[in-house]
Amino acid sequence: MRNKIVAGNWKMNTSVEEGIQLAKEIAQGDIPHDVKLIIAPPFTHLASIKEIIKNNDKISLSAQNCHEKVSGAYTGEISSKMLADLGIEYVILGHSERRTYFHEDDTDIFYKMRVALDNGLKVILCVGEKLEQREVGDHFKVVQKQLEKTLCKFNATEAESVVIAYEPVWAIGTGKTASSEQAEEMHGFIREVIANNFDNKFSENIEILYGGSCKPNNAKEIFSQHNVDGGLIGGASLQSSDFLSIAGSF
Ligand code: 13P
Repeated sequence: MRNKIVAGNWKMNTSVEEGIQLAKEIAQGDIPHDVKLIIAPPFTHLASIKEIIKNNDKISLSAQNCHEKVSGAYTGEISSKMLADLGIEYVILGHSERRTYFHEDDTDIFYKMRVALDNGLKVILCVGEKLEQREVGDHFKVVQKQLEKTLCKFNATEAESVVIAYEPVWAIGTGKTASSEQAEEMHGFIREVIANNFDNKFSENIEILYGGSCKPNNAKEIFSQHNVDGGLIGGASLQSSDFLSIAGSF
């Protein structure tokens, strides 16, 4: 059985005070009983927000990145072990903004996943094609390669701690969402790739979220698709009313 999940990636937004306020509003909101929320604030907010949601079993916390080593002379970096120490449950890896602006490739993402999973974190693994790749019909090939170089290198027990987020790069922050048919087609394809590398049962049980301009006015249509288990939300996760409305869109 797959969970319904709505995750909010706050990216590099909000002051600590604003983040605390946003987390409080979400925690006090009306969250459907069968939906799990994950919020991913900036690192600086995690400890305070952890306190706010500590008695709320409907909300989990995620980091937005971690380093591929456990400790050492890596000035400015945060390790998965530190996140685990803080009681953080998830880390987002492979986000297109990390791939684009910080030049992370699938090998880097694999190493980050390796150390995150070894330290007991669950991973939200982002995959997705760029516009030019979709335009020439390479989108399936691109996503297949991203999965085979990361998720598929783990054994099934390890991979059970991974949630996939399909985020077409051309839909992120652009207001241009994938159609529900495009999302369903790619999610179905992702399940096929996973079935071929693990097995059907595993593939049927892994959660696959859609991300990219998912808003209160289009979430219902996207979430109604058979292979879509929820969303990874950017901009609309910064307003509690929008985020909660998306959580209520199944
Ligand atoms: P937007 O919802 O702002 O398009 O961002 C999606 C995203 O990148 C979530 O990780």
